[in-house]
Amino acid sequence: MSTAPGQQDLFATEPNKMADAKEPKAAKEKEKPTKSAENAETMAKRQREISVSEFFTKNRHLLGFDSPRKALLTAVKEAVDNSLDACEEARIQPDVKVKIARIGTSEKQFTITVEDNGPGIVATQVGNVFGRLLYGSKFHRLRQSRGQQGIGISAAGMYGLLTTGNPVRVKSKPGKKAQANAFEITIDTAKNRPDVVQKPFDWGEKDHGTEVSIDLEGEYRRGQKSVEEFLKLMAVANPHVYLHYTDPDGNVTEYQRATKELPQEVEEIKPHPHGVELGVLLKMVNESENRTVSAFLQEDFSRVGPTVAKEICEKAGVKPDSNPHRLETSDVAKIKAAIDATKIMAPPLSCIAPIGEELIITGLKKEVEADFYVATSRKPVVYRGHPFAIEVGIAYGKPGDTLVMTDSGKIVEVATKKPDNAEVLMGAADEPVRLIRFANRVPLVFQQSACAISKAVIDTNWKNYGLQQPRGALPIGPMVIFVHFASVWVPFTSEAKEAIASYDEIMEELRLALMDAGRKLGSHVRKGKKLANEFKKRNYIEIYIPHLVVALKDILKLDEKAVTKARDSLTVVLEKSRKL
Ligand SMILES: Nc1ncnc2c1ncn2[C@@H]1O[C@H](COP(=O)(O)OP(=O)(O)OP(=O)(O)O)[C@@H](O)[C@H]1O
Ligand SMILES: [Mg+2]
Repeated sequence: MSTAPGQQDLFATEPNKMADAKEPKAAKEKEKPTKSAENAETMAKRQREISVSEFFTKNRHLLGFDSPRKALLTAVKEAVDNSLDACEEARIQPDVKVKIARIGTSEKQFTITVEDNGPGIVATQVGNVFGRLLYGSKFHRLRQSRGQQGIGISAAGMYGLLTTGNPVRVKSKPGKKAQANAFEITIDTAKNRPDVVQKPFDWGEKDHGTEVSIDLEGEYRRGQKSVEEFLKLMAVANPHVYLHYTDPDGNVTEYQRATKELPQEVEEIKPHPHGVELGVLLKMVNESENRTVSAFLQEDFSRVGPTVAKEICEKAGVKPDSNPHRLETSDVAKIKAAIDATKIMAPPLSCIAPIGEELIITGLKKEVEADFYVATSRKPVVYRGHPFAIEVGIAYGKPGDTLVMTDSGKIVEVATKKPDNAEVLMGAADEPVRLIRFANRVPLVFQQSACAISKAVIDTNWKNYGLQQPRGALPIGPMVIFVHFASVWVPFTSEAKEAIASYDEIMEELRLALMDAGRKLGSHVRKGKKLANEFKKRNYIEIYIPHLVVALKDILKLDEKAVTKARDSLTVVLEKSRKL
């Protein structure tokens, strides 16, 4: 192996021998401490805190900004997620406008603008929301929302600033009578603090809402993993949302609401004792405002009443009226063990809002053309103390590939409708099915193979439901599988929120939900196969009878009357065999 100039040879195997050998003077001098050699003192001078913004500037791939194409989609996604969260929290029917425009004639720089009719953001918070990483309203609350980390939109703004040098522009009006303000925000990455310029302005008819514009380096392409596809998927899982989209060429696509009902309101819950880890318990004990351990257990956790609190204290050997702040670490560890050994009611489920079978089908029908739809929505259960629910929807069979029996018993192929949109979700009959994944109603576009959802779909035996399935792969067929994971905390495998971690409880629920939907699908697929077989046999009859009749006519020297009779008799015999 050769070593680049100036680079240490890390693979030199016998350093002592090398040092002992008689070598030229120049080589010996190399071993003396050089000007750049460090010691503890000099290293101490370099050791300092790294701000979270500096960290993510270097590691922007962790947040989904690793390629210009992905960056464009991630920025749109973060802004749309926030708009929908804000509207739903304020119980407003979301109207969201997304616009992508080229900057000048550039094919590499774009402005993305997302406008909502949400509650707006108070002026004093705008800087922190858009110009400070790890700042948000959702991280500390246990309730279902699209965002959870407090990093999404500020990361998009930071990426924009990094690639174009332009600040994030925000307009916000936090109420009908409130003053609208326009802001320009940059991030001081060394301090992870915003620099804000604010100006009041008149937002005309608009009562309330927020608009964010980010200039960024990106790449615009249609098709799979595009902004168009993301918005379409968003419309599937959020049939209560109106989306208005303008692409860089000025084409407008509208996704209409299919329901006026907002998702059910979610309540914030306290942590469930069964999910809590020792370090978290220690922190909670230290920060508790309650004066007794019994009160701490009852007030700071969900599902702990006086009886359960007493049982935990007894098992832990801790007095219920002792002061939580005076507990030793060993006492807290005993409380943790006692919690694990105590039966406690599952957490309240009002903190999550699954979509529901009916609306999954409504959403699928709206955006995926198929001839059979089915959905399964499982009851919420718990992983690590966090409630979650799995929902599965299936759209099967392209109208063009479908055989239908008419009233007269004739089997016909339904005409293929040409899709009017490039982002068609359904694949062809000989292609792997299309899997669409969602976490808290947000489409997960990247990292499909790393996701628990994909693993569960592959592990399901789709042959049981009449589909072909190569080993270790998605089944084959004209089908879209929709899977939704709804929870107070989605265990994403990275900050970019692209794939869900494979906790055992999650895998089991996915398995059950997919099997249930699969069973419903199975009877339909089998019916379709029966029709297809009949269609094939009928085709044979229609193809071969004329030839048989000609042959019979020749061999038996039949006249025209006898030929007609022979044709009719043959048809009857073959029809009979078809029905067997
Ligand atoms: N359009 C908006 N309307 C109202 N509030 C908003 C809007 N966009 C952002 N916010 C507020 O700004 C906060 C920060 O947003 P950000 O996207 O950075 O983090 P998040 O949504 O909390 O979590 P995540 O990092 O997972 O997206 C949000 O928690 C929310 O309180
Ligand atoms: Mg967000």
